[in-house]
Amino acid sequence: MLVELGSGASSKTRPVIEALLERQGELTYVPVDIAKDYIREVSRELEREYNALTAEPFGGLYMDGLRHLAGRPEPKLLLFLGSSFGNVPIDEQLPMMNEIRARLKVQDRFLLGLDMNTDREAVIRAYRAEFTRCPWLDNFIDRLNKDFEADMNKMAFEDTVDFLENPAYGDTPSYVQQYLKSSTKQRVHLRKLGVTIDFLAGERLYLSEGQNYSCKYSEHQVRRLVEKSNFAVEGFWVNEEAKYCVVCLVPNEKSDAAPGQATINLARCVAMGPVGGMQRGVKMHQGTC
Ligand SMILES: C[S@@+](CC[C@H](N)C(=O)[O-])C[C@H]1O[C@@H](n2cnc3c(N)ncnc32)[C@H](O)[C@@H]1O
Repeated sequence: MLVELGSGASSKTRPVIEALLERQGELTYVPVDIAKDYIREVSRELEREYNALTAEPFGGLYMDGLRHLAGRPEPKLLLFLGSSFGNVPIDEQLPMMNEIRARLKVQDRFLLGLDMNTDREAVIRAYRAEFTRCPWLDNFIDRLNKDFEADMNKMAFEDTVDFLENPAYGDTPSYVQQYLKSSTKQRVHLRKLGVTIDFLAGERLYLSEGQNYSCKYSEHQVRRLVEKSNFAVEGFWVNEEAKYCVVCLVPNEKSDAAPGQATINLARCVAMGPVGGMQRGVKMHQGTC
């Protein structure tokens, strides 16, 4: 069974689906995403495209999706790609990894995609320089005004992007911080919620659940996170510029390993993906999906 957290358009998933279908003939795919209607549509499309694929979309939160699958005995390949994990608040990342570990068995595999730490300028450029004003920040205000009958004035907030760097040999990743900064002292009403917010000049409104957004990890930080959550690294691939990595994780404890598992060439699944040019740690491993 192939399970994907935050599957979106499943565009990075297709090479994996194709490799698994080629290998085992049929496949159940469970995309998990809060965009419920969208993934239902994507699932129907995938089923039309791949006859031997059964898609069982789960519209909801990441961990609810995993809990929903708790009773399923099939071996699982869990995907969490597109750096979505890096948007989880930093203090929730290890608890989330621990829960993922608790929901997997030794026969399962977890393929995690993360942004790697690059230079500050490149990150800021990627998040900001193309726009004089970041379009999704305006969209954020438009949605608050529309959905909650708010009266936020776009022009009274500046959009700000920072990159906060942490030491590569510590445990805390570097991260992007994106927020709206009140240009003046002002009062905002969100009528539908019955909420009034008084902003001082310079006060911030974060657009993410925590203060971090889009974490960037050093290899050391990735390995520490893996180690602390009771997984082991079975494969570690980075793209040519070392801006992105895909890590294949195996649950550590041996108690539920099934004998006689077939071999799957995960390296191939990954190398075929949009990351491209994988250069390190390409290997075969044991596991069925
Ligand atoms: C950055 S997109 C990645 C999409 C796809 N995996 C890719 O790499 O192209 C993140 C996806 O995660 C979903 N998402 C964000 N937070 C979520 C949550 N807490 N639970 C479930 N899905 C979530 C979004 O709806 C979106 O489709």
